[in-house]
Amino acid sequence: MEEMKKGLEGVVALDTKISYIDGIQGILMYRGVKIEDLVDLPYDAVSYLLINGKIPNESELSEYSQELKDNRIINGKQIDVLKEFDFGVEALDGLRTAISCTAHFDLENNHHSPDANKNKTIKLVAKFPTIVAALHRASFDKEPIEPKDDLSHGANFLYMLTGKIPTDLEAEAMEKDLILSAEHELNPSTFSLRIAASTLSDLYSAVICGLCTLKGPLHGGARKGVMDMLDEVGNIENARPYVLNKLERKEKIMGFGHRVYKTYDPRARIYKDVARRLSIENGDTSWFDLAEELENILYHEFVEIRGKPIYPNVDFYSAVVYKYLNIPAELATSIFAMGRVSGWIAHCMEQYADNRVIRPRAHFV
Ligand code: CMC
Repeated sequence: MEEMKKGLEGVVALDTKISYIDGIQGILMYRGVKIEDLVDLPYDAVSYLLINGKIPNESELSEYSQELKDNRIINGKQIDVLKEFDFGVEALDGLRTAISCTAHFDLENNHHSPDANKNKTIKLVAKFPTIVAALHRASFDKEPIEPKDDLSHGANFLYMLTGKIPTDLEAEAMEKDLILSAEHELNPSTFSLRIAASTLSDLYSAVICGLCTLKGPLHGGARKGVMDMLDEVGNIENARPYVLNKLERKEKIMGFGHRVYKTYDPRARIYKDVARRLSIENGDTSWFDLAEELENILYHEFVEIRGKPIYPNVDFYSAVVYKYLNIPAELATSIFAMGRVSGWIAHCMEQYADNRVIRPRAHFV
């Protein structure tokens, strides 16, 4: 049997047309288009690109956006179920259960035809933000806010969460966040979803598998970890002692390091710029300044300790963006999932289209 690679590091498990990462040069492409050329598009267009393989033309985009808008609402029965949830649990657990309920209420749940999968795709992409916002409001005994058709996917989410129309920059930040979170090749949640899809399980089940894997603090859960860390550190004076203490105890610092990127994560660079702009609009740059200080300290400590730097990953400056958008830390992983669902669906469809059950071997010791 072949040599075992712990954590499957460097193992190539499948072919994909959905995204490409060059971890040495810091390049990320969705369907052959560089991430830097995608972040100014609407999230709907990037979602369409990931799922259908091409950037939509004007009429394709308007049809796709309208289908998403028509499906944003969740029904009264489902809202009643959400209100019964135990809000002591993590928000992502609520989202996972709510997506299970959506599957339960969808009569096409176990239909595998292309039409049924297309309908389920629209429902999943459209309803994720509504569910995340409604669940959060329900945890404060607040009624859900109906979606607004004249707002983009991201802006409408912020509106459904707070009841306030976001500023142009806040809306742009949310759209960019969803785009930057949408896809990342064979990350742990996508790999787990592809395994589920390879057994020919249904789309909802595969997405739920992705959600369960995203939850962990070493994956999507790191974003909440960064928000908690910023609160814990509090101000620039505490940054160095915090980092040194963590490194001495050999603890990981959330939002840094990556299995694939050995240079600056291109998504982190874009998030950093958005965070900086939000901090200026906000008139208080202290979260941004603190984050930048943590980045600088870690960079130099790693050069000192290992002779090579460590860089922020996607979860670091996204957490700073969420701070300026007044997004509570407990929602961070769920919002990551709102963006990632388009990439997950694309991978599910790619797996169905050319399937062989994914079943590696273990080395018995
Ligand atoms: N803080 C402190 N030390 C670190 C960090 C960090 N964030 N990341 C890596 N290292 C050290 C690690 O201790 C190890 O040192 P040694 O060789 O002495 O044992 C070395 O760098 C290599 O790290 P690793 O954990 O073996 O690397 P990996 O490829 O197995 O893990 C990772 C990658 C992202 C899980 C890891 O860097 C990490 O745990 N980071 C913190 C959590 C985090 O931010 N996760 C989000 C990941 S990116 C987006 C996503 O997938 O959701």
